[in-house]
Amino acid sequence: MTSENKYGKKIINVALPKGRLGEKVYDIFEASGYPCEEIKEDSRKLIFENEEAAIRYFWVKPSDVAIYVERGAADIGVAGKDILLEYSPDVYELLDLNMGKCRMAVAGPKDFRDNTGRTLRVATKFCNIAMDYYASQCREIDIIKLQGSIELAPILGLSDVIVDIVETGTTLRENNLEVLEEIVPISARLIANKVSFKFKNKEIESIVKKIRRNIKND
Ligand code: PRP
Repeated sequence: MTSENKYGKKIINVALPKGRLGEKVYDIFEASGYPCEEIKEDSRKLIFENEEAAIRYFWVKPSDVAIYVERGAADIGVAGKDILLEYSPDVYELLDLNMGKCRMAVAGPKDFRDNTGRTLRVATKFCNIAMDYYASQCREIDIIKLQGSIELAPILGLSDVIVDIVETGTTLRENNLEVLEEIVPISARLIANKVSFKFKNKEIESIVKKIRRNIKND
């Protein structure tokens, strides 16, 4: 979709992560001069366009944003650093939006002591991040891949520890678990398809410049 619209502009397709983070990300785009009022209406619609601003938004499952961008279905998008580290999509990372902040951590029972004579059982959704982390520690592990409610695994004896996202720490606290090791800080990143970045460079650079001005610093 590189052709120009009736305003003689190249439309930029943006994959937004569906949910609270996506709404905040949209607010930044709106404040940067890319509004699309209809997106705020309560509906099940997934695609929204502002022809004059030459922008088209899609609501995408957060963990799928990088796939849409990597394959060019979206020119740009917003994905968590966790997804970028886990799947290493072939995209450009353009900006740290300084939002959606959390950390990737090893967590487990409060009294956990690692017995290095045994293989460590690690439950996680983020297998590559966990494998890379423990490889760097030369620690042998057995990965148990789960899709959610990871915190249950050490409680029920399915695993020794978990590798997961910690935001407020409430889920861990309420389940008598705690952070044992911090792996990496996470935040939302603006990413771009590599071909789009070449052929729609002027438009994408212009978006990046305006968005950068609207990123809130701590
Ligand atoms: C994530 C993560 C933790 C929780 C951490 O789960 O996997 O369970 O959020 O947040 P907190 O530190 O603020 O409590 P998510 O809500 O995405 O659901 P999931 O259990 O399906 O992974």
